[in-house]
Amino acid sequence: MNIDDVQGDLTTVLFTEEQITNRINELAAEIDRDYDGLQPLLVGILSGAVMVMADLSRAMRIHCEMDWMAISSYGSGVASSGVVRILKDLNISVEGRHVLIVEDIVDTGLTLAYLIDNLKSRNPASIEVCAGFRKPDAASKNVPVKYLGFDIPGDFVVGYGLDYAGRYRNLRGLGVLDPAVYS
Ligand code: IMP
Repeated sequence: MNIDDVQGDLTTVLFTEEQITNRINELAAEIDRDYDGLQPLLVGILSGAVMVMADLSRAMRIHCEMDWMAISSYGSGVASSGVVRILKDLNISVEGRHVLIVEDIVDTGLTLAYLIDNLKSRNPASIEVCAGFRKPDAASKNVPVKYLGFDIPGDFVVGYGLDYAGRYRNLRGLGVLDPAVYS
């Protein structure tokens, strides 16, 4: 789905697909350098991180493995509650592994704080975070995102894996959803 297809639902286009791809390629090169010889385990958080994971992992030139967690954040609509429940756990053990959590967006940072705590308790060799986007709340709280695509405003955004009510995940690029769509 292209920006043109949903232009009326967006107030602002923040990034085109090309801008996102270029930035993800830069992050992949950094990760290649930092994890050379370590075969990191990329842990993608379903469903939002599917696009970041697909683009990041293919841009990487070193070996890696991929696994997925699905979590449910209690609360509905456009606000994050931070109360998290694991719906699907990893298939691969993280013990002794260099784990890189791959997230779509960090908003309050509550989901990430939970995930880091949870995975740390399983004794990985290291744990870092790669996220496509970060909102001001997380930026001000020093949420540990080592590999960050872009800082964005606090508005509710859709596209590049991010949904509203299950829609817009397949939108190329990232845009601010017009509040009229959800109010
Ligand atoms: P946090 O716990 O507040 O950091 O929220 C993280 C999760 O909330 C993300 O992984 C997204 O699934 C969801 N989320 C936060 N902001 C947005 C947004 O602007 N659009 C779509 N989903 C969002």
